[in-house]
Amino acid sequence: MVRIAILASGTGTNAARLISHFRSDARGEVVLIGCDRPGAGVMQRAWDLGVPSYLFNGTMLQRGVVQAELRRFGCDLVVLAGFLRLVPSDLVRDYAGRMVNIHPALLPKYGGKGMYGDHVHRAVLAAGDTKSGITIHLVDEEYDEGRHLLQVPCPVLPGDTPATLASRIHELEHEHYPQVVAQLVDQLGR
Ligand code: GRF
Repeated sequence: MVRIAILASGTGTNAARLISHFRSDARGEVVLIGCDRPGAGVMQRAWDLGVPSYLFNGTMLQRGVVQAELRRFGCDLVVLAGFLRLVPSDLVRDYAGRMVNIHPALLPKYGGKGMYGDHVHRAVLAAGDTKSGITIHLVDEEYDEGRHLLQVPCPVLPGDTPATLASRIHELEHEHYPQVVAQLVDQLGR
């Protein structure tokens, strides 16, 4: 059984989907939720769903404290689900090929530092793009640059606001992220 950690900074809807997926898929289990924001919704979700959670700050992340915690929990795979910090290189190296991220746009467009959440959707709308989508990719030492595992487009509709576009994209994320993570789990479990 592959032991999965999720790192998140926000509301945690993707984290909740992943937790529930692996409650009926015995190949993996979400054993830890790590969060860098006190009061983030994902902490409440972890509590409600009975998954151990771990709160840390940027200094702890830089000093390897988070890395040690992931090891202590025996985590085989790290899933970033709305995690806003750059992951330090030694942690990326520790989990090379075993750390995945989801981005709410079709990378390489609208990626990089500062491009998260509504900032992405606003930029897509401001550019007048007629499609956006999601990108699920492996994590390397730069923001949003690792190898793509899956991209799924969706239309940008006339009259879209950042909120309506975000909600369409969230639906795609909820559908596809558990599937892609399950494929990785399958590969790792062999
Ligand atoms: C998602 O849109 C994801 O693509 C981005 O952050 C958002 C997290 O949403 N990286 P949630 O906290 O899972 O609801």
